[in-house]
Amino acid sequence: MKKVIAIDGPAGAGKSTLAKRVAQRLGYIYIDTGAMYRSVAWKVLQTFGSDNFTDEDIAAAAYNLTVALTYENGSQRIAVDGVDVSEAIRTPAVTSVVSRVAAIGQVREKMVDLQKKMAADGGVIMDGRDIASKVLPNADVKIFLTASIEERANRRYKELREKGFAVDLTKLQEEIAARDKADSEREESPLVQVPEAILLDTTNMNLNEAEAAIVKLVE
Ligand code: CDP
Repeated sequence: MKKVIAIDGPAGAGKSTLAKRVAQRLGYIYIDTGAMYRSVAWKVLQTFGSDNFTDEDIAAAAYNLTVALTYENGSQRIAVDGVDVSEAIRTPAVTSVVSRVAAIGQVREKMVDLQKKMAADGGVIMDGRDIASKVLPNADVKIFLTASIEERANRRYKELREKGFAVDLTKLQEEIAARDKADSEREESPLVQVPEAILLDTTNMNLNEAEAAIVKLVE
């Protein structure tokens, strides 16, 4: 029977890459909840420009937008009010405001509601920060995926460089640490490892090894 799999963890731990691979292998649907918060952040930046907005502005933007996830050849696309933002939500500008956006209660309420509906039929693997604790507390498999901050920064550095962004490794590591701190210390659904989650530290694992470890846990 198809299960519900929840993966949480800090920034750059490899959640989306691994969740995508495991979903393909098992014939599950992959739901990237970070992309949903990034979409709200993108809309806020489009509407107000950088940093020129209040928490009320963020809540209003989230209330008024529609987020739609679709699947093309097994990979997720995401649209905001009908505009495909799958690539646009990965820029450093969006990354720099997303944790602030994701800390707003009204934003989370709307996104969590959507996420619960998307997982209702099972056969899903969902990744984020509050999946095991809040979105899918009854998930069959709960994994907390992590890696050392140096390794996570290195992985994200390579990824951004490949996409053509000029990034500084030291700054990137600081940004990741700041985002982890904000995500872990916020009041609304902070990033936590629930007691029943299995800890998977991928610092010294390659993708194939980490994928095999997750598949083994699911099976
Ligand atoms: O890919 P990366 O690890 O950089 O982050 P992401 O999964 O795309 O998530 C971006 C941001 O969205 C996180 O830093 C959190 O602030 C927020 N987020 C959240 O609050 N709850 C989730 N379930 C997923 C993401």
